[in-house]
Amino acid sequence: MTAPHEAGALSQFAPAKINLALHVVGRRADGYHLLDSLVAFATSGDRITVEPAAEDAFTVSGPYAAGVPLDTGNLILRARDALRSRIGPTAFPIRIHLEKNLPIASGIGGGSSDAAATLKALCALWQSDPPQLDLAALGLSLGADVPMCLHAQPARVTGIGDGITPISTLPDLPAVLVNPGVAVSTPAIFKQLTTSDNPHLAPPPDDSAPQTWLDWLANTRNDLQPPAIAVAPIIADVLRHIANTGASFTRMSGSGATCFGLYATKAQADAAAAQLSLDHPQWYVQATLLKGSDSAS
Ligand code: C5P
Repeated sequence: MTAPHEAGALSQFAPAKINLALHVVGRRADGYHLLDSLVAFATSGDRITVEPAAEDAFTVSGPYAAGVPLDTGNLILRARDALRSRIGPTAFPIRIHLEKNLPIASGIGGGSSDAAATLKALCALWQSDPPQLDLAALGLSLGADVPMCLHAQPARVTGIGDGITPISTLPDLPAVLVNPGVAVSTPAIFKQLTTSDNPHLAPPPDDSAPQTWLDWLANTRNDLQPPAIAVAPIIADVLRHIANTGASFTRMSGSGATCFGLYATKAQADAAAAQLSLDHPQWYVQATLLKGSDSAS
């Protein structure tokens, strides 16, 4: 949701995106891979604040600010420029502030979610919602993960990320996110794939019992996990350490290196995060909640 922040400013949360399952099911002629993925969004994430200004500006704070590019390589600025080119001269100058809480290039959609949050906040600030503006298509032109981050609700995602089917039965899932501090390049991981015609996901459960979902997940994969482990073997250690905290399920998200564990309760997730932080003070460790279908957006 876009919330008033201070006079004239708007603040928009940019949640972490977690691929609970990710099957690579094909490849397009242009090299992009066709996916079949189940995504959920966390209560942890970045925050974008936009406000009118005399001239465009972009500032960054937060624990991962140092790795954020400040030039137009940044998806936030590309989102701003793309939206402005659609809106035209009424899109006045703005100051954008990013509070960067998520590790960079880490498989949890930080940059894509930031771009999606920027598009939402700027549409509200510029009071522009022209009917001909297809925000998902604009998002897709910025990156394959941006449309799902605009949706920001549990969904099955197909195509290269542009086919989005809402999921109505996912329960809230207490989780811990762990990143060992290794930035992983998405194209490099896709390049390592030996097979790109894996089976599709089985239909997701039609009830919300957590055990039903855990059983379903046990029969799914992240097809990018083996190539990511080949590139960054520490990912296997991360998965093992999470499993040792009593997680009921562990997996890598996206192209890595962030991995997640699922737990029966928030208290168990908190305890696991405390233990992992103690054992690995250099790692990003975050207890969170993956919001289910019934959670308010
Ligand atoms: O769209 P985005 O810029 O996030 O993608 C980065 C790179 O990841 C692409 O250039 C492509 O090499 C790879 N990719 C892919 N199939 C996808 C998404 C990304 O091969 N569905």
